[in-house]
Amino acid sequence: MFHKKTIRDVDIKGQTVLVRTDFNVPLQLDPDTNEQLVASNLRIRESLPTIQYLLKHQAAKIVLISHLGRPDGKRDQKLSLGLVAQELAEILPGTPVNFVDDVSGPEVEMAVEDLPEGGILLLENLRFSPHEEGNSESFAQEIVDSTHADLFVQDGFAVVHRAHASTVAITRLIPSVAGLLLEKEVITLTKVLESPNRPLVVVIGGAKVADKQPLIDEFLPIADQVFVGGKIAADGYEASNDKVYVAEDFDETETGEKLDIGPVSTTKLIEMIQSAATVLWCGVLGKVEDAAYATSSTILAKFLGEHPVIESIVCGGDTAGFVVQLREDDLSLHYTLISTGGGAALELLTHQDLPGLDGLESA
Ligand code: 3PG
Repeated sequence: MFHKKTIRDVDIKGQTVLVRTDFNVPLQLDPDTNEQLVASNLRIRESLPTIQYLLKHQAAKIVLISHLGRPDGKRDQKLSLGLVAQELAEILPGTPVNFVDDVSGPEVEMAVEDLPEGGILLLENLRFSPHEEGNSESFAQEIVDSTHADLFVQDGFAVVHRAHASTVAITRLIPSVAGLLLEKEVITLTKVLESPNRPLVVVIGGAKVADKQPLIDEFLPIADQVFVGGKIAADGYEASNDKVYVAEDFDETETGEKLDIGPVSTTKLIEMIQSAATVLWCGVLGKVEDAAYATSSTILAKFLGEHPVIESIVCGGDTAGFVVQLREDDLSLHYTLISTGGGAALELLTHQDLPGLDGLESA
């Protein structure tokens, strides 16, 4: 199910390890100070198992690389990873977490040299250079040379659908293996596709039919039942198969805008998933940023999070963000996987290429 070497298959002790994380976290402005804040640290917390494994196995130095946002190859201070370094330091107390505002060159070399044994260094946003998205081998080589990395670890599941310097070119330069988050995401999502515990119910929501139709097509032969809600259903999606139930009633605004699925459809959804062994949920069922229209998504998230045995896989950026927020208020909620990959998860589930996986060493 996972055919790549991971950090468990290689010798870590004494190595300088370069880890590609996906710290492309949502940002928001602090209403009091007007400063940027990390709005959800899910992707940072999910990188911890790999970082902690490397620390435990005595990596000499850990250098993290990531992108943040889409600065289009230009430096944009609002998208500096300095903020993420602070957040990482807060959730890893006792571990030195340093930051350097470049990805290669003498400052990076010095920062790596100055890093204490067992310390972590986060480099600046890779996408401040056009060569990152250009998948430039010389850009990747400069990072390797400046950090003196012995080993490359790909742990940014959310970015493996991109062919960039830090996902593809770099794997041609030094030994490259998978991190634990990447492995967990690929194994869990592949299992839903290839050998799910049945019955499998797929719950589709979200706003754009174009994004979700490939997923519906992929799962029609696999799923036992498919439920369609969200704006897709509100816009009149028509079922092409009797496995598919499309939400039939909606909570509407005074002007008739359908912003959540209604009680009849929500009851039907719960009936469908009650006897499921696996539920794959991609896409919120209503306009969840408005609490008045988050009812059905909240009922579904709580039902899954409280269920003792259903395997629940949540994917899509908005859906994951919504569920993480609920879980922050109720830590007892449990899910098999809240995927960190928006586009990457959808691409994996629809059998598209994941170039960031291809270059890793085979197991
Ligand atoms: C994501 O948030 O889906 C990943 O970080 C990839 O970002 P991108 O869509 O800007 O390449």
